[in-house]
Amino acid sequence: MKEQKTIALLPGDGIGPEVTAQAVKALEKVCQEFGRSLDFKEGLIGAAAIDATGDPFPDTTEALCKSSDAILFGAIGDPRYDNDPNATIRPEQGLLRMRKSLGLYCNIRPVTTYAELYDISPLKNKVIEGVDFVVYRELTGGMYFGEPRGRTEDGRTAFDSCVYSVHEIRRIAKLAFLTAQRRRGKLTMVDKANVLATSRLWRETVEGMSPDYPEVDLEFMFVDNAAMKMIQQPTHFDVVLTENLFGDILTDEASVITGSMGMLPSASVGDGLGLFEPIHGSYPEAAGMGRANPFAAILSAAMLLEESFGWINESRCIADAVKEIIRIGICTEDLQPSSKHSTDEVGDEVAAAIHLNVPA
Ligand code: IPM
Ligand code: MG
Repeated sequence: MKEQKTIALLPGDGIGPEVTAQAVKALEKVCQEFGRSLDFKEGLIGAAAIDATGDPFPDTTEALCKSSDAILFGAIGDPRYDNDPNATIRPEQGLLRMRKSLGLYCNIRPVTTYAELYDISPLKNKVIEGVDFVVYRELTGGMYFGEPRGRTEDGRTAFDSCVYSVHEIRRIAKLAFLTAQRRRGKLTMVDKANVLATSRLWRETVEGMSPDYPEVDLEFMFVDNAAMKMIQQPTHFDVVLTENLFGDILTDEASVITGSMGMLPSASVGDGLGLFEPIHGSYPEAAGMGRANPFAAILSAAMLLEESFGWINESRCIADAVKEIIRIGICTEDLQPSSKHSTDEVGDEVAAAIHLNVPA
């Protein structure tokens, strides 16, 4: 009997459903080629879940995730909530609760460039040539979750707390060290240790772990400096390790190097189950119009196969198909303004380019 894996499919809001549909096509095609089998079970999250149930991360979705082997997620966010400071229920809470309740403490965001896309990057070709780094962003701590948070009684002062424990730092740092060991052996810890107590704990903890990884060259960089370096000399980086908020900001910045946010996939891992999602948001202006770039979602599906199932050849096959489709110039308008290809067409082309290709 074939081993059947279950993927919880959470399309979410905005362009989420249309890009995840392309990722599913790629997964189905790769399964067909390799004689594998996947079962997709769809769940609600974000504004779509609020509309249906009043809750951005309903219990049924949580149960679905916990009973699956991996999660493929689209996007979250809806302009109906963005400018309402009094909204107590927000779509984004669904994503944050999901990360926390599933123990997804490590967010992995690889940044690679494609030669065919160099010209759409706002950076010069010579700056982005050969860029290949990965950001390890802590995902369930820091300012996003720290207590206390809120307002004083008179409502005139607000506060958020940045809180980190040695345990929280060590578990993600270990994954970052191991990845640096497998890659080019360089780990850049990004913090603000000249100002923040939490950053000083990060430095102390990560430095203390460094002797266990003698092949890894560890360096420290302040976040303001790292933000500059990422644009001036992105080839400097191999593995970047940082806390939640800095990682959120730096990975949006990093996406600019590639030329489009629609190119970057991500994985969130931790206590077992993994969640895979494009780093872009819900792009509500384009929802349902067939203009959204599906590559990040498709590449997230490729990451899922490798990280969660260890299906390395299947994963490469999908990534290679994306490369091939980019090479022959089939893409959405964000990559080429004159392009007439819709999200769905690009997804069809990628699926068609997936062929059994087991390296000898
Ligand atoms: C991201 C997003 C989320 C974050 C939002 C939607 C809560 O920006 O995944 O980077 O801030 O973590
Ligand atoms: Mg972000």
